[in-house]
Amino acid sequence: MKTIQVKSSKGHYKLCIGRGLLPRTGALVSGIFAPGAKVMVVSQKNLAPYLETIAASLSKKGFEVHFHRLPDGEVAKSGAELFRLSYALLARGFERRDGIVAVGGGVVSDLAGFAASVYLRGIRYVNVATTLLAQVDSAIGGKTAIDLKEGKNLLGSFWPPALVISDVSVLRSLPARELRASLGEVVKYGVIRDAVLFHWLERHGKKILRKDLGAIEKVVLACARIKAEIVSRDEFETKGARAFLNYGHTFAHGIEGALGYKGLVHGEAVAIGMMMAGQLGADLGLCPEELPWRQMRLLVSLQLPVSLKKFNLKTVAILKAMMKDKKKHQGTLRFVLPRRIGKVAVEKDIPLAALRKILHLAGAK
Ligand SMILES: NC(=O)c1ccc[n+]([C@@H]2O[C@H](COP(=O)([O-])OP(=O)(O)OC[C@H]3O[C@@H](n4cnc5c(N)ncnc54)[C@H](O)[C@@H]3O)[C@@H](O)[C@H]2O)c1
Ligand SMILES: [Zn+2]
Repeated sequence: MKTIQVKSSKGHYKLCIGRGLLPRTGALVSGIFAPGAKVMVVSQKNLAPYLETIAASLSKKGFEVHFHRLPDGEVAKSGAELFRLSYALLARGFERRDGIVAVGGGVVSDLAGFAASVYLRGIRYVNVATTLLAQVDSAIGGKTAIDLKEGKNLLGSFWPPALVISDVSVLRSLPARELRASLGEVVKYGVIRDAVLFHWLERHGKKILRKDLGAIEKVVLACARIKAEIVSRDEFETKGARAFLNYGHTFAHGIEGALGYKGLVHGEAVAIGMMMAGQLGADLGLCPEELPWRQMRLLVSLQLPVSLKKFNLKTVAILKAMMKDKKKHQGTLRFVLPRRIGKVAVEKDIPLAALRKILHLAGAK
């Protein structure tokens, strides 16, 4: 097992990454929750095969284990589910000394983390991350949220987990599309910060599609290190460093919005968004002409989509959805664009004509 430290305003917390960690859950969370504390294991149906192991190891260490099941999918990040979990904690007498163990992907930890941040004005929670996306991204950094009908992640908090356990062996049961889509985010880390990782993915990335656990572990470690370093420096997204994690995301959010969040999963939209950001960087002369091509070859080799053609989307619909995103940044659209593989910078005031050209090139009408 490897550990990585993350700095936060609530103290440091550890990311534990390795294989066969679930039976050690109880031992790993000892010291976080008080002896004899109640622990609510929040999870979903798909994680049922792992819950017995987790519960047994928690009971063995003297914790009182309770279970709460969330529905599958983004619908779990709702006000109704936040209240349902809060009432379940209340009904079982959870106090400040007790805590939550969120077992699942980003959906479970976003909802459970948000509940943890507001229940009794805040209790501790641990993320047992079970998707590749969660292990490289969403379980780390303390962003929690639920969705409103007006948009995703509109109600949330910064509430760091007390511990993150990433057992890569559980990724074996992850649906192939989920695994592939998360590779969009993995490539992102290569472009924004780690040319060695990018090169490694070019040579060995396919091993991940074959669920080679050694390869997966290497990639989870590399990406988790980058995310940990960035959020340690910029926990509340006020200093700029965290913005680099948005590489490809301004376009991706525009695409997802224009599609009404159907047809593409997030990591796939990010892959197309990175294609656009790479090409924009080259068009503006900020990075070598070759970069978007190299990035495209890698994305294609990882079986990620690189074009919007089949979706029949209008350029104006994507631009409109991107503008909605812009409201979050005081009215200016900002793009994280590459300088070279491993280095990006934030750029403002991109001419509209350049954006239109990029969207056309990617297959929008
Ligand atoms: N908080 C953050 O910093 C952050 C960052 C990125 C994304 N997110 C959020 O994360 C969510 C997406 O998370 P996700 O991609 O992990 O999806 P997810 O949590 O919906 O999980 C995907 C599917 O895989 C199933 N699953 C999970 N682990 C499994 C396993 N080991 N074996 C079999 N099935 C398994 C889940 O039940 C679900 O059906 C979005 O809501 C997004 O907004 C949050
Ligand atoms: Zn993302």
